[in-house]
Amino acid sequence: MDGANLVMIDTDCKQRSFRPDAIVTNSSQLPKGCPVPITTCIFDAYGTLFDVAAAARKAASEPDFSALADHWPALARDWRLKQLQYTWLRATADRHADFEQVTADGLDWALENNGLNGDPLLRERLLALYWELDAYPEVPEVLATLTARGLTCAILSNGTPAMIAAAARSAGIDGFLSAQHSVESVGVYKPHARVYELVETQLGCARDEVLFVSSNGWDAAGAAGFGFQTAWINRIGEPQDRLYANPHHVLDSLSPLPELV
Ligand code: LAC
Repeated sequence: MDGANLVMIDTDCKQRSFRPDAIVTNSSQLPKGCPVPITTCIFDAYGTLFDVAAAARKAASEPDFSALADHWPALARDWRLKQLQYTWLRATADRHADFEQVTADGLDWALENNGLNGDPLLRERLLALYWELDAYPEVPEVLATLTARGLTCAILSNGTPAMIAAAARSAGIDGFLSAQHSVESVGVYKPHARVYELVETQLGCARDEVLFVSSNGWDAAGAAGFGFQTAWINRIGEPQDRLYANPHHVLDSLSPLPELV
């Protein structure tokens, strides 16, 4: 990350306390003058609220799937990468299939790439675990704080409505979410603008009063390009994506979010 282009959040418009090491703000991306007050926090689901590596990690700890013990991190990485690639390719080709399908397709590629494709029970178990992924540890408290302050919190995800609802229920965070929006309403994947428009059409709020939160750099960039204020949760210190817009804020977890709103 190029520290020279980053400054700490501007405190002129609003008094805020924050952990200086956890928040950086792309000063060139901020609107001129005071930003519009945030009324709504929209969360990406997979990788942002839910730990997508949890399925492979959990299966690897089960006696039936000891073959995964050494392979699970590579399998989890391949699975996620292929799942996302298939969403982008299907969006580009206008050949939509739902997230349940691309998740299974990505897993099949990843199992084969890791020499694990001869075990139908492992495949079945991994797909079942994807419906009950762990939330990252800080998620419930952050959502509780934001909702207690009167902010609307909702999900906007590539997942199907059933997948999102199951994961939110199993992680115990559904009570904090006023809505769970799925790309299935528009039949195309992020970062297509039709997906981000769902926030305006279904929640009825203006795009500049939305803080969009995603751990996917390309999703945060897409949302910034659309006109949301954005926070990229860069949990693993990745370089920033080179796209048509940059996230406004870069955080190392969700924990500093209440300091931004
Ligand atoms: C989602 C993917 C991008 O939840 O993580 O939309």
